[in-house]
Amino acid sequence: MNSQISSNIWFEASAPSNIALIKYMGKTDTVNNRPTNSSLSWTLNNLRTFVRIKQNGELTSDQWSALKRNDLRPIELSEKGKKKFLDFFAKLKTEFKLTGFFEIESANNFPSDCGLASSASSFAALTMVAHQYAGGTYLPKELARISQKGSGSSCRSFFSPWSLWHEQGAEEIQMPIKELKHMVILCDESVKAVSSSQAHVQVLTSDLFKGRPERAADRLQKLITALRKPETEWKNIFQICWNEFWDMHTLFHTSSPAFMYLNGDGFSVLAQILEMWQKEGDGPIVTMDAGSNIHLLFRTNQPDSYTKYLNHFNQKFNIWTDDGYQNRKD
Ligand code: DP6
Repeated sequence: MNSQISSNIWFEASAPSNIALIKYMGKTDTVNNRPTNSSLSWTLNNLRTFVRIKQNGELTSDQWSALKRNDLRPIELSEKGKKKFLDFFAKLKTEFKLTGFFEIESANNFPSDCGLASSASSFAALTMVAHQYAGGTYLPKELARISQKGSGSSCRSFFSPWSLWHEQGAEEIQMPIKELKHMVILCDESVKAVSSSQAHVQVLTSDLFKGRPERAADRLQKLITALRKPETEWKNIFQICWNEFWDMHTLFHTSSPAFMYLNGDGFSVLAQILEMWQKEGDGPIVTMDAGSNIHLLFRTNQPDSYTKYLNHFNQKFNIWTDDGYQNRKD
């Protein structure tokens, strides 16, 4: 690594977001974000966080602010969010032997109200830019392992388009599907009462957590097998992913104290999707994260279905797609 010859120059990196089909929910170690089960995600390459850093000799601590640029939308970080980001940057400085204090700026190229958590993309981008600044030569797998300590799901953002995070860390997994179309239906845009980090802790109190690691492992194996034959197994892929997000949300609903992200609108959208799927005998993969937004993934040979869902749900809901479509009802 170089010895910080790079003072006073901005270094910038960007990383994509990802959406899990087999979920990371529950940790065996909250310091290093070790998951109770393996997870599998699809990388959202169009949805990225950009982070830049510059050393500043006049600072007495690292400072974060929103990166302002015409092509980017600034992230609003809560005090808690800012602390998590800066605490992790301090760890990165130790790892990469960076000294002094830094200005850190970040922003997303997707709106913060589009229903996508930006924690995966922002922690991955922060890890990348610190590594770049230090002139490091770590491999993506090593960087992913470090980024995991900042936010677990960020380790999957180092690989594309499919990322598998198992006991030995995250890595790319080859699948025949190389392209999918992503759509988010926003069912509740209020601020979440329970963060995903808090959800990881609370799910462990659910009676139904017993057997969860085994269920997730079993589903992961079945999903990988099905994804290798998408032409014949698409319906099965849908069913596995559907069961998986319900499993996670049921843990939320049965924790002590119980909490819910799914509201009446969310239930209604899910019921309509099920009806459309049953009528057509085909449709998108459906999944939900720790929130109330519904994520759909379509094959590229489903353009009619894609348009049908878009036209149907944008009557009532805000929708966001990864090719930039966004409608606002308010
Ligand atoms: C529901 O990675 O946000 O999106 O490690 O505490 O930062 P921390 O949690 P985070 O958890 C994401 C959980 C999830 C499912 C998933 O992405 O696998």
